Amino acid sequence: MKTEFNIAVFPGDGIGPEVVVEAIKILKIIESKLGLKIMLNEAPVGGAGYEATGHPLPDASLDIAKKSDGVLLGAVGGPKWETIDFSLRPERALLGLRSNLGLYANLRPARIFPALLDASTLKREVVEGLDLLVVRELTGGIYFGEPRGVVTNDKGERYGFNTLVYSESEIERISKVAFDVARKRNGKVCSVDKANVLEATGFWRDIVTGLHSQYSDIELSHMYVDNCAMQLVRNPKQFDVILTTNMFGDILSDEASMLTGSIGMLPSASLGEKYAMYEPIHGSAPDIAGKELANPLATILSVGMLFKYSLEKEEPNIWIEEAVEKVLGQGVRTADIMSDGMKQVGTKEMGDLVAAELEKIN
Ligand code: IPM
Ligand code: MG
Repeated sequence: MKTEFNIAVFPGDGIGPEVVVEAIKILKIIESKLGLKIMLNEAPVGGAGYEATGHPLPDASLDIAKKSDGVLLGAVGGPKWETIDFSLRPERALLGLRSNLGLYANLRPARIFPALLDASTLKREVVEGLDLLVVRELTGGIYFGEPRGVVTNDKGERYGFNTLVYSESEIERISKVAFDVARKRNGKVCSVDKANVLEATGFWRDIVTGLHSQYSDIELSHMYVDNCAMQLVRNPKQFDVILTTNMFGDILSDEASMLTGSIGMLPSASLGEKYAMYEPIHGSAPDIAGKELANPLATILSVGMLFKYSLEKEEPNIWIEEAVEKVLGQGVRTADIMSDGMKQVGTKEMGDLVAAELEKIN
């Protein structure tokens, strides 16, 4: 069995570096528990990549990603780079990594930790027991479609445009991921589209329906995205796996994160045929960077997904979730999930507490 691994570490910008430091603590504990040898290769991406080399995704960083068994990423972006050309914005690093590494399947689990039931803005009974998974297509759709741009027409009027495009094979491969993962969960897939308005997503619905004939054990339903946004706050427990396009998945996963108490709680895995990347779903939150206010749990939980999907070790993910639940159960909270009667801790202290609980698990 393989025991040596290379992990690319891209802290990025804003709170990225602080949350990644905590996640690495956790990774190292598991490394020694399992007797593995994990080489960590750190490199700049995003604003940090731009500052270091003039490009948000330096070739050297992409190379490190391609030589890795998995990439751990913090977050990218910040006000400092908001005015530079689109092609050089920090976000391009993320999109470049996704497309260059072929990471077409983005898994975003939204599970509520029992200790956080009262941290959700929704009523306890609405979210208690919540466990859903957003399977977001990540390398196609309107995020990558051509043509795109901002141009001036003959009459001198400027207009901007993007293209929503999906091929049959792109829809099929992401649908397979959703059906396969539903088999290991509660056997339900809800495909989310806007088939009443957008041809490309009507086509999406047809392809998903066609593929479903190979998955007769899975219960498939379809929902328009506006209805899904509403159902997620009305009755989120009706969902098991939500399968959807790149942009709808971006939006719905932020919404789903709030059901669990905070966007600071949601990890993610982006998977392709050859490579994989793990990151919290939150952004770089420049306003709170360096203030010990960031919640490191989403990144810590992403380490669990890294072990599960890239290193083929199932247990660390369970251990990490257990350790997080224990720490939350002690009444300890970062600012984003703080509530009356709880004790607020900083980013580092939260990481240390999870590390201490993890050390206790045999
Ligand atoms: C996400 C983020 C990214 C996206 C941004 C930062 C490019 O919002 O991972 O959800 O839109 O995909
Ligand atoms: Mg997003």
